[in-house]
This record gives sequence, structure tokens and C-alpha cells, in this order.
Amino acid sequence: MGWADPHDADPAEDSMTIIAPSILSADFARLGEEVRAVAEAGGDWIHLDVMDGHFVPNITFGPALIKALRPHTTKHFDVHLMIAPADPYLAAFAEAGADTISVHVEAGPHIHRSLQTIRALGKRAGIALNPGTPASMVEPVLDLVDLVVCMTVNPGFGGQSFLPSALETVARVRAMAAGRAIDIEVDGGITPETVEAAARAGANVFVAGSGVFGGGPAAYARNIAAIREGANSATGRDGLRC
Ligand code: DX5
Ligand code: ZN
Repeated sequence: MGWADPHDADPAEDSMTIIAPSILSADFARLGEEVRAVAEAGGDWIHLDVMDGHFVPNITFGPALIKALRPHTTKHFDVHLMIAPADPYLAAFAEAGADTISVHVEAGPHIHRSLQTIRALGKRAGIALNPGTPASMVEPVLDLVDLVVCMTVNPGFGGQSFLPSALETVARVRAMAAGRAIDIEVDGGITPETVEAAARAGANVFVAGSGVFGGGPAAYARNIAAIREGANSATGRDGLRC
């Protein structure tokens, strides 16, 4: 087997290291350019945080913006829905160009139905867990899940401090997912320092907003490389298929 670009194959296959810059910390007046810049700087996926001011105490953007960004890169669009209800909007996010759509288990009474709907739309299905939500919530729907998002901050804002207590959830989800093609993502407070513990606990997808966009465009490549290095040094992975 040879080298592979992390965004053009199914990343879950061998749990490769994926760095997913969150545009929540980008310059919103220049989003197309920012997406191209982090893609060129080595970001594997683009993480898009959708917030409704109801499920979380902040409002960001919806499918129209994601659709407008789609022509700017071929990278995997990792859409994190922090909205309730989510079901009425899943088709719109799929049409806008999402590749993975994640819904919070706390966002509604029918997570199984939401995941089924995402898969039926031809997209990868993600389930997101708040720091206060037990890992066991994932167990009944493991067959329907391509990605588990373990929040390492309370969702709503960028730039918050990493919550080490969430690592227990990561480790439990990793154990539960053994033998399955499931990516485990950590989201919130990821830096070159905190990424190591997250990788050791079993995460292989690392979302970073302020950790990537801090310092402006000249720092993006360096920031992404530092997070990747931290993750790989913790696990001995090289981030490439072999
Ligand atoms: C928080 C979002 C995160 C956020 C991470 O609700 O889901 O994706 O952008 O930002 P940082 O990396 O700054 O904590
Ligand atoms: Zn997110």
C-alpha cells in the first residue's frame, strides 16, 4: 500500500490522523479565502460549526454559507450541527455539500432516526456528545455511526479551555468502537499540548479553531503541523496510510 492523501479515501479505515480546522475562528469577512488557506496549509478536513442560539448560546451560519464555501476546496466538509431540532435541516446540509453531518445526541429524542436520515442522504453520519453526556449513549446506534464527536469543551464558543474530564468519554468510545470503521473526533481546546492526551485516549480526528487560526495566515501551516506532530508523537502514528 502506498501513500494517500487523507481526504480522498475513507479515513475511518485505519484510524489515520486527521486535522480539522474549525472556521469558527476564521475571519468571517474572508471565509472563502480562509478555507483555501487552511486547506493549502495542510488541514485535512474543514470543520463547520452550525449554531442556532437555542441548542447553544451562540448563532453562526447555515446551509447557504456552506454551499457558498463548497467551490473553494475539495476537502472533506465536516459539518457539526449544534441545532435543535436537527432533522428538518439535514437534507439542506447534505445538498449544501456536507460530507459528514454530526448531530448531538442531546438535540432531540430520535438520534437513531437522525443518523438513518443522514446515511439515507448519502452522507457520513456523526453523533456528538457533550462533556456531560455518557459514552454509553453511542452504544445502541454504533451500526449507524461513521464519526463520534467527543466535545472537549461545552459547545457554543471557540477559544475555551480543554476539559480533561472528557478524555474518559473518548477512551470509552474508542473501546466500544473497536473493530469498526468509526472515526473518533475531539472538539474544543485542542492545541499542540492538549492533543497528546486526546490522541492517547483514542481520538484520531482533531478539530482546532483558535489553535489553527491564531497568529493569522502566516502561522496556519505551522499551527497545523504542530497539532499533527503532537497527535502522532503520542500514538506513534505517522498519519499516513501504510
Ligand atoms: C465549539 C465548536 C468547536 C470550536 C473549537 O462549540 O464546536 O468546533 O470551533 O474551537 P477551539 O479550537 O478554539 O476550542
Ligand atoms: Zn465543532
